[in-house]
Amino acid sequence: MAKTRTQFVCQNCGTVYSRWAGKCDACGEWNTIVEEGTSGGIGGGPAKSSRKGRVVALTSLSGSIEDAPRIKSGIAELDRVTGGGFVRGSALLVGGDPGIGKSTLLTQAAAALARQGCHVIYVSGEEAVAQIRLRAQRLGAANTTVELAAETNVEDILATLTNAKKPDLVIIDSIQTLWSEAVDSSPGTVTQVRTGAQAMIRFAKKTGAAVVLVGHVTKDGQIAGPRVVEHMVDAVLYFEGEGGHQYRILRTVKNRFGPTDEIGVFEMSDHGLREVNNPSELFLGERNSNAPGAAVFAGMEGTRPILVEIQALVAPTSLGTPRRAVVGWDSNRLSMILAVLEAHCGVRFGQHDVYLNVAGGYRISEPAADLAVAAALVSSLAGITLPQNYVFFGEVSLSGAVRAVSHSGQRLKEAEKLGFKGAILPSGTSETIKSPSFRQRSFGDLPELVAAIASGKRRASPPTQN
Ligand code: TYD
Ligand code: MG
Repeated sequence: MAKTRTQFVCQNCGTVYSRWAGKCDACGEWNTIVEEGTSGGIGGGPAKSSRKGRVVALTSLSGSIEDAPRIKSGIAELDRVTGGGFVRGSALLVGGDPGIGKSTLLTQAAAALARQGCHVIYVSGEEAVAQIRLRAQRLGAANTTVELAAETNVEDILATLTNAKKPDLVIIDSIQTLWSEAVDSSPGTVTQVRTGAQAMIRFAKKTGAAVVLVGHVTKDGQIAGPRVVEHMVDAVLYFEGEGGHQYRILRTVKNRFGPTDEIGVFEMSDHGLREVNNPSELFLGERNSNAPGAAVFAGMEGTRPILVEIQALVAPTSLGTPRRAVVGWDSNRLSMILAVLEAHCGVRFGQHDVYLNVAGGYRISEPAADLAVAAALVSSLAGITLPQNYVFFGEVSLSGAVRAVSHSGQRLKEAEKLGFKGAILPSGTSETIKSPSFRQRSFGDLPELVAAIASGKRRASPPTQN
């Protein structure tokens, strides 16, 4: 029997400490370090046993693959993000804030797969069977062959799964409710979550079933977050959304069997999640192109172009230090663009508050948005409307040069498809589109663009009637 020592484990990132501390040095979170026992747990190693090692059969790398390696759900937005469907024998983690719609998404996926004849088992430790049935009814997912179990004990779940007809897909909702008798930490701790996840992953590898683990993102650190199992699973998806908005984005963070920069877009409705096949239309929905400070950015998410409006509000400040607030973009990147505009274009923001918002609660991580941001800022400061129905893309360097970005052809095509009249783009862009009705104006540096926007003032005067 291994000696039980106590250790202190950060519930956010899993770092182990020998004594308690208020802050985790590894991830920077406060109050996330909790005392846990180590017998059989992480860091403690397996209990010593006198068992001799068993010889495992070695096999050839070029062996044949019997089963179809992927199980396609038929929900296109989900299949794209997983890289073409769930992979047999793999473990997938779906993380997200509580209430974002993880159970809804997976219930719909389970139903879709069951309709194709797949054997799906849904194990919930969060809700009672009656509650899950109720949700399924609302989603139109009842009357399928999905098998349900409300259970949290890892040993019981494994026994049930082994006893049942061999499943194609197993959904565990959620890893935080799993607990194993093999470790003596309380449920929800890093040790329990990892042990439970490990057992499920082993089940996936052994039986060839695809296993989906649901993990709640936790803010207060009282229970372990999904990050502590990210390194153990084959793929990690995060389900995100902005409070007050109906749409949800499923994003790949890690994928051993596919690309990691794909997103799937859904809309939460009364009848569950609806696929959004054309996200640009969603993010451009409430656009008022006559207002100064708005620029449409032609962005890319993985292989897919997405157009989204960037809104800037530059207003005189009443504070000693002007405010800079950003939603949906990197605040350091905003500071950089402001500095470049000040240093190279003579645009002064020192006496102004700057607010930057990406419409619809969408989040941009591409530097290609620089040009759209700069244009929106200058437009708002000067009170000049940007050319209507134009998209913007391009990276801005510290010297003020406008740099070409990847996938310009796809960005332009999407803009044209959605009825835009033209694009403002970097002059070094290699792929352009040939269309007489779609204008493309290129700029080599930011001062050039600022001058062009400023000269728009005269043109923006009230149109003369004739
Ligand atoms: P849920 O899938 O239970 O979230 P999670 O598993 O991530 O905690 O979704 C809960 C939210 O979704 C809840 O606020 C209600 C909403 N919802 C709908 O709007 N329509 C629906 O059809 C369903 C099932 C849920
Ligand atoms: Mg849930």
